[in-house]
Amino acid sequence: MKILITGGLGFIGQHLIGKLRDTGHHELIVVDNLSEQVHSSKTIDPGTADISLIVAGVEDYLAYEHVLDGLDVVIHLAAQTGTGQSMCRTSDYVESNVQGTAQLFDALARKHKNLESLHVVLASSRAIYGEGQYETSMGSPVTPRPRSRTQLEAGQYEITEAEGSSLTRALPTIESASLDPGSLYAASKLMQEYQLRYFCEMTGAEHSIFRLQNVYGPGQALDNPYTGVLGVFFNRARAGQELYLFEQGGATRDFVYVSDVVNTLARNLGSPTNQPVNVGTGCPISIGRVAKMIRDGVGGNAPIIPSNRYRIGDIRHAYADVSKLNQLVDTQQFIDFETGVADYITWAGNQEPAADGSERAYAEYLRFFQ
Ligand SMILES: NC(=O)c1ccc[n+]([C@@H]2O[C@H](COP(=O)([O-])OP(=O)(O)OC[C@H]3O[C@@H](n4cnc5c(N)ncnc54)[C@H](O)[C@@H]3O)[C@@H](O)[C@H]2O)c1
Repeated sequence: MKILITGGLGFIGQHLIGKLRDTGHHELIVVDNLSEQVHSSKTIDPGTADISLIVAGVEDYLAYEHVLDGLDVVIHLAAQTGTGQSMCRTSDYVESNVQGTAQLFDALARKHKNLESLHVVLASSRAIYGEGQYETSMGSPVTPRPRSRTQLEAGQYEITEAEGSSLTRALPTIESASLDPGSLYAASKLMQEYQLRYFCEMTGAEHSIFRLQNVYGPGQALDNPYTGVLGVFFNRARAGQELYLFEQGGATRDFVYVSDVVNTLARNLGSPTNQPVNVGTGCPISIGRVAKMIRDGVGGNAPIIPSNRYRIGDIRHAYADVSKLNQLVDTQQFIDFETGVADYITWAGNQEPAADGSERAYAEYLRFFQ
């Protein structure tokens, strides 16, 4: 297959390239702007020497439109990915994630001569659901409103019904749940889904949309403080610095190991889903527990500080309903979090120590919102 991967030199993209090399004789073309935030201290993996690399933003279609005709698959990974950062740098996020996607699709429409044979895969995000679904004390599912700034300032982190009564538990989020993105990043990922759907409706191209939960694993940028809580905790634990838990550490996420994600993407290349599919484990893990696992795995006694820090746009609980995903792959075979974190710590421990930028990122956020 002739495959274009946008953002292919990022965390997920590099794993995907490795997987596609192992599984077939594909011609791989990558468009990546080598965003400094992701690539500042890394040289490109020499293993990428056999791909055709075009260093450009997806929004700069003139740089890559000549490679579009004849593609079998486009895997669209290129995006700016920081939830908190997106709230302070809205025009950058719209330019990369929304305008970039528009330019990619417009260029495909102009240059690809047989769009009905094209499969476009989008790495969307769980973030588009916002808080997802909860269960009321009467046992019925409900989609709550996001927490207000007043609630967050008062330390009322758990989700309540409109009249303030508490909900019993977060439910796993199904693909048909309401979509209510809580940040500019999330809104831009939802916009990408719409852009893809309309492109395919107009052109006859097929598509797959994978709504990824929190992906983690070796290769995740350690020096990008805007995304990837494991990296933030790892850097600080290694330096013996405090690990600050936002919202007292009680928020939960569904952490899915990167190789399970890329195996799912790679298996599906020849069979478009033409609908969104969640990609996660279906198991929520609290951020407090993540911090403890990282600190204990690294060793040392960096203090773990439950704090009342919060960020507008963050959600409280998130985990996937994986029923649809199980029709494509067996999530029972996914790597469990304990094993995955141990692998991650081994990998991260072999990297050059990265300066922690999380305090700077938080200060930037506070300057913007106060
Ligand atoms: N990692 C996660 O937990 C996660 C979760 C949900 C969704 N996703 C989605 O998966 C995709 C890949 O994420 P990742 O974790 O590998 O991120 P990453 O930041 O490691 O990689 C993104 C890559 O895209 C490149 N890039 C950024 N803007 C670009 C642009 N305008 N044009 C071309 N290249 C650009 C960067 O240089 C980088 O190599 C993203 O679309 C992200 O929204 C990731």
